[in-house]
Amino acid sequence: MIAEIYKDKNIKFETNNFPKIVFDSFFIPILNNLPKSFQPGIKKTHKAADKIIETATSYNALEILYGHGKMYRSKNLLQAFFRWIWLTRNNAKAVRNRLMIVENELRKTVNNLIEKSENINLLSIASGSARAIVESFAQINVPESVDVSISFLDKSKEALEYSKKLAISLPNKFFTRWLEDTASNFPKYFHDENKPNIIEMVGLLDYFNDEKVQDIFKIIYDNMQTGGTFITANIVDNNERKFVTNVVGWKMIYREPEVIWELAKRAGFKEENIKIFFEPLKIHLVMIVKK
Ligand SMILES: C[S@@+](CC[C@H](N)C(=O)[O-])C[C@H]1O[C@@H](n2cnc3c(N)ncnc32)[C@H](O)[C@@H]1O
Repeated sequence: MIAEIYKDKNIKFETNNFPKIVFDSFFIPILNNLPKSFQPGIKKTHKAADKIIETATSYNALEILYGHGKMYRSKNLLQAFFRWIWLTRNNAKAVRNRLMIVENELRKTVNNLIEKSENINLLSIASGSARAIVESFAQINVPESVDVSISFLDKSKEALEYSKKLAISLPNKFFTRWLEDTASNFPKYFHDENKPNIIEMVGLLDYFNDEKVQDIFKIIYDNMQTGGTFITANIVDNNERKFVTNVVGWKMIYREPEVIWELAKRAGFKEENIKIFFEPLKIHLVMIVKK
């Protein structure tokens, strides 16, 4: 089997209990059959839902999902109920599960490099809020002898500015830089001697067609250190897709693990170095591949 469910006893993933599964078996078909004209009504139920719909696909919407929408106060019990309804949709849970996997894999990769006394040269492509990077380093003890360089690359100035604020918690001794550019241009910021040994690119393949995925995989393969680690993710077909696409208006390109596997192989990655996992709700896959 190409992809298994990610397991780590230290991670408390969001899953569904029996009553939620029963509730969903009625509720999801209703959501999927709502007409697009329901969108304004959903926006009115809670500010968090309004903002997610307004900023769908951006770092902003993801930040609301990561934070369970709690940055927007519920003015009454009905609003609190609706916030709970929307922010516990399986897609919302799954994106938080994805974040936990990415952070765990980043920690494992960085700690491996530290054990080997190797410097860390990390590139985050489509870095958005940079939450995965910032939160994973918060739990890593980097010795003085190890140099850390982190490049955040995003085409959105607003996302870069937001992530700068979040990254204030990173140790001062880290070299950090923010690059406003499109994904495929990243090689121009790295010389042959300082190619990244970790590349994290999450929340981008969902908007790239196969040709663009193939191109960026090849550019990444060609421009990372041999032995380096590439961490990426893609949304997988799931039973809330119709609702997310038509009513929320968040359009994505859904892929099965076999497709991502094939695209990685074609880019040059060796089959035996490709690992693909589903988060527990099987709505997102995460690929960890070594060059
Ligand atoms: C859905 S967010 C993901 C953010 C972050 N990686 C995460 O997982 O939380 C997508 C980000 O990709 C950026 N983006 C979209 N297309 C891009 C491109 N071609 N090159 C660089 N960044 C891009 C957007 O500006 C946005 O910040």
